[in-house]
Amino acid sequence: MTLGDWHDRWERLMARYQPGRERAIERMIDLVASHCDGPAPRVLDLGGGTGTLCARLLERLPAAEITLVDLDPVMLTIAGASLPPSVRVVRADLRDPDWVTRLPSGGYDAVLAVMALHYLPPGRLTELYAELAGLVRAGGLVATVDDMPDEDAVATTSDGGEDPWSTWWEQAAADPVLGPAVVERARLFGDAPSAEWHPPAAWHLRALGAGPVEKAVVAWRNGIQAAVVAFKPR
Ligand SMILES: C[S@@+](CC[C@H](N)C(=O)[O-])C[C@H]1O[C@@H](n2cnc3c(N)ncnc32)[C@H](O)[C@@H]1O
Repeated sequence: MTLGDWHDRWERLMARYQPGRERAIERMIDLVASHCDGPAPRVLDLGGGTGTLCARLLERLPAAEITLVDLDPVMLTIAGASLPPSVRVVRADLRDPDWVTRLPSGGYDAVLAVMALHYLPPGRLTELYAELAGLVRAGGLVATVDDMPDEDAVATTSDGGEDPWSTWWEQAAADPVLGPAVVERARLFGDAPSAEWHPPAAWHLRALGAGPVEKAVVAWRNGIQAAVVAFKPR
């Protein structure tokens, strides 16, 4: 199986956990397209995984200057093989406040995250939001889409008892190219990737609004999935 096949398999896996994934990604790209000042926005994709959002951004904004950050060597291997060389792929641990020193630049027009920030505990995510505010330019934005199960949100995710997530990782472990990266992943993460935390959208709005970004709003919702966005004053 090629790394391109693994990228496609990841997309199919994520679609099971993220109903409305296509629309969520489109919404993130709409936000960038409608708020950037020119055709070449500088964009940071946090926990960018195999590079789906970056690739979709480039389809819409081919001159975008994009950096993908992730820690997982499996994700980074697939992203590195799937994305064009213009995309900077950076290995960094968002749990570590020093992660920003690994970035090639600052002054981002947009910092985005798709289904990634639920791996961070509350205290660290609050700190990260403050760090992100320092990375975006005046007038830039921070947006994240994730499970945000507000009281009135209706859960739409169900796999009927199957565990496609574990199956995907077992198959990756058996793959001759990805197998060593799966071993390295376990060393880097321990059990952290399973330590998930899903606060409601109101929590994200408060945490984002506590930093030097403002006007945090829910930009999209589908069942328990929501996207929140905050803008830095010009
Ligand atoms: C569910 S995946 C989503 C990936 C991608 N955004 C997508 O939508 O396909 C979560 C991503 O967050 C990354 N991640 C989790 N914890 C991280 C950390 N501490 N530092 C950097 N990346 C992390 C994982 O490696 C993974 O790629």
